[in-house]
Amino acid sequence: MAYFALFQSCIIKRPFNLFHRKNLYLRFSEVERNFGNKVTWDKPFDMHFRKFIEQANQAVFSNGKGNKCFNCDIFDVEGHFDLVYIDTPYISGKGMGTDYLGFYHFLEGLVNYDNWQQMIDVKTKHKRLKGNTTTWTDKKLIYSAFDKLFNKFKDSILVVSYRADGIPTIEELINLLKKYKQDVREIERKKYKYALSTNHSEEALIIGK
Ligand SMILES: C[S@@+](CC[C@H](N)C(=O)[O-])C[C@H]1O[C@@H](n2cnc3c(N)ncnc32)[C@H](O)[C@@H]1O
Repeated sequence: MAYFALFQSCIIKRPFNLFHRKNLYLRFSEVERNFGNKVTWDKPFDMHFRKFIEQANQAVFSNGKGNKCFNCDIFDVEGHFDLVYIDTPYISGKGMGTDYLGFYHFLEGLVNYDNWQQMIDVKTKHKRLKGNTTTWTDKKLIYSAFDKLFNKFKDSILVVSYRADGIPTIEELINLLKKYKQDVREIERKKYKYALSTNHSEEALIIGK
């Protein structure tokens, strides 16, 4: 929970929503500043930290059942489940994958503090983290990744959420699900917008029974 609160505080305070060494000068120069999340940026860490701890505490409740949480690759999860909800990283219509390692670069280092040095690809200009291409970020591999995932959990009810403007398309996901499930339907579609972004998008929810 401490990591959660610290990381959320770091994320919310980033100027221009980016972890970028080039933005460090903003912190130190005596100039008038103005950017989208400036008010949040001005608030000290401990204020954000306490707010996020509060949020985390509110998310902890008992549903009266035994619950398990795994931190591993989805293909390493074992067991049988009534329902599997799938919310994979998203590849845009232009083929751009969601590079979580890149987005959260600094936090990945912080949480892997002892290995941080070895994780950095020093040959790259922006000191990228090594190994940031996965089956879920490559438009050539994502189809077979979904296929393998649906196959793995084919005995469960499958619920998939995905952006309506992505690769694969919702229609392609529905067809792929039909390989394993008899009754496949899109049950919900919702418009939304990320904070500080001007792009509107839609998220679709598909169920396969
Ligand atoms: C769109 S997010 C899901 C967000 C989540 N539903 C939530 O509300 O917080 C996709 C998640 O998949 C995780 N992920 C990426 N590759 C994975 C893999 N091979 N196995 C398990 N999880 C993976 C990412 O770390 C990321 O947290």
